[in-house]
Amino acid sequence: MVKRRSSLSKNVFIVYIYKQNHFIQRNCSIFVCFHKNQLLVKIEDIELGEFPILLAPMEDVTDPPFRYVCKLFGADLMFTEFISSEGLIRDADKSVKKLDFDEFERPVGIQIFGHNIDSMTKAAQYAERANPDLIDINYGCPVRKVVAKGAGAGILNDIPKMIRMTEAVVNAVKLPVTVKTRLGYDEEHKEIVEIAERLQDVGIKAITVHGRTRTQRPRIPADWTLIGEVKNNQRMHIPVFGNGDVTDPVTAKHFKDTYGVDGLMIGRAVYGNPWIFRDIKKYFEAGELTPTPDIQERIRVSKIQLERSCIWKGERRGIMEIRKHWGNYFKGYPHFKPFRQKLMETDTLEGVHKVLAEIEEFYA
Ligand SMILES: Cc1cc2nc3c(=O)[nH]c(=O)nc-3n(C[C@H](O)[C@H](O)[C@H](O)COP(=O)(O)O)c2cc1C
Repeated sequence: MVKRRSSLSKNVFIVYIYKQNHFIQRNCSIFVCFHKNQLLVKIEDIELGEFPILLAPMEDVTDPPFRYVCKLFGADLMFTEFISSEGLIRDADKSVKKLDFDEFERPVGIQIFGHNIDSMTKAAQYAERANPDLIDINYGCPVRKVVAKGAGAGILNDIPKMIRMTEAVVNAVKLPVTVKTRLGYDEEHKEIVEIAERLQDVGIKAITVHGRTRTQRPRIPADWTLIGEVKNNQRMHIPVFGNGDVTDPVTAKHFKDTYGVDGLMIGRAVYGNPWIFRDIKKYFEAGELTPTPDIQERIRVSKIQLERSCIWKGERRGIMEIRKHWGNYFKGYPHFKPFRQKLMETDTLEGVHKVLAEIEEFYA
């Protein structure tokens, strides 16, 4: 391999990689580290492995206890749920509580959103004091209330402001700043290739692209072609992660092989399935599909999440927090409804353990 410094920017190299019988030229600040002759993906100093699998931020889903179990099964980078910059700088309890993470989760990013540049820079500084590994900006939330204010994916309507806001946040903090966004605002404005370049130019250290526009509904299949174009743009030298419709190890491999991204981010397929990170990695390494976890394993792992939930919020609140996850853990089990009902009504740890024991006995 030949390596020489290019004129692109201070830490960017042109690297020639020998792959599939020919050399590929890459402008590259990410593949700077070798491990067992493999190149590692990095966000500044944060090493993420050869092909990182990221847990997508999901409001009301990816709370610290759930992230804990995802980490157990190999999530390489995780994020808090999105946090309102306005809420954060006003010390709103709900927003501040979302800053919580466990040391075990590292590397972890705090994700913020907002429409006001000043509030966003202050919120980024506030988030930085919680000592995460990076700050992520949400430019992807399609929810009407958020978009109407010009936050989340709403900012895709005003690219110059998006660039100014990003630059201001990058300059306001010492931590690396990353962005999660979409292909563009709508079908007529799929501008992500240019947007990604401009965001890189103002200093972001990685980008995740969700393969939909703001106006596309989740039932429309994610379009990975443009995600691939972002990655294959010769000017891009930061990691590009693809997101949208990774459902299992086979789709993960398809997106990995077809679009050349640096890693994948997984959202909905993780519901009740923290094992997916391990399963995908095993499939990449050995081509083997792992059988779905049996009832004992589901109970074992959901108990870990329950325990973390109670450590995080105390017994009663912890039990309430995990309630929304029970249905996911036992999805597809016939006649589960009465058990679910009991899990929803029980508010002591002893009671929950009793119901879990009944579930195990019933389905074993
Ligand atoms: C319930 C739910 C909540 C979400 N909350 C967030 C969020 O807080 N921040 C964010 O960037 N994206 C959020 N998203 C979008 C996901 O991170 C992801 O981009 C989207 O689900 C597509 O990926 P998937 O096909 O793997 O699910 C959310 C999605 C869902 C379904």
